[in-house]
Amino acid sequence: MNSPAINIPGYTYGTAEVAPSPSTLADLERLKVSTGFTKEDEHFLRMAGDVLQAQVETIVNHWRANIIAGIPHLARHSRNLDGTPAPDYLARSNQRFQQWIRDTCLRPYDQDWLNYQHEIALRHTRLKKNQTDGVSSTPYVPYGDIIAFVAVLNGSMRTYLAAHDHDAADVSRMHNAWCKSIHIQMALWAGSYMGTEAAGKES
Ligand code: HEM
Repeated sequence: MNSPAINIPGYTYGTAEVAPSPSTLADLERLKVSTGFTKEDEHFLRMAGDVLQAQVETIVNHWRANIIAGIPHLARHSRNLDGTPAPDYLARSNQRFQQWIRDTCLRPYDQDWLNYQHEIALRHTRLKKNQTDGVSSTPYVPYGDIIAFVAVLNGSMRTYLAAHDHDAADVSRMHNAWCKSIHIQMALWAGSYMGTEAAGKES
């Protein structure tokens, strides 16, 4: 599915610019089984998308401005190499990060979705980081730091999911579906990171 209506700089979901993922739809089905991700989770992710739609800017600002910006070994990945701010880089990638929340909840998990998972992962590695926005920042984000940050993404999400009038059980179901999706995504990213320097630690 192409996305002509979504006009975000550097966002190439569903276009010919995105290389095929090394993971197949059969791989994805296996990951769904392994995480216990069911049709019910799909349903609750759609519900989550409705709740999160209007909050994506607030959420990404919380993650990036309130948390990452205060952790030097993470903050530097969105800065210039000399440590000075790169506001355009931050603003542009923030918008794509916001769109990723929508995509996680509202897109069908088809081949285009798999391909863009691979693209996003590569944009954290030496193979593609900095290229989309033409910047000189750190060459990659180590995979360990990505996985560690999942604790923040998932931990903070519950509050945002509770913003509408859904009862606590439905908020939990939305949260579970969200966490399973992130688990699946991180498993997919592992494949994309594998064999790149970014899979290991920084020296
Ligand atoms: C589960 C963890 C993470 C997720 C789901 C995630 C997601 C994303 C997404 C969706 C984008 C935009 C992709 C696009 O171009 O369409 C992005 C870009 C970016 N993320 Fe992450 N991210 C995570 C962890 C981190 C961490 C820990 C850092 C480092 C502090 C980081 C730094 C960046 C940077 C610098 C970019 C811009 C990359 C580029 O040059 O194109 N991310 N991330």
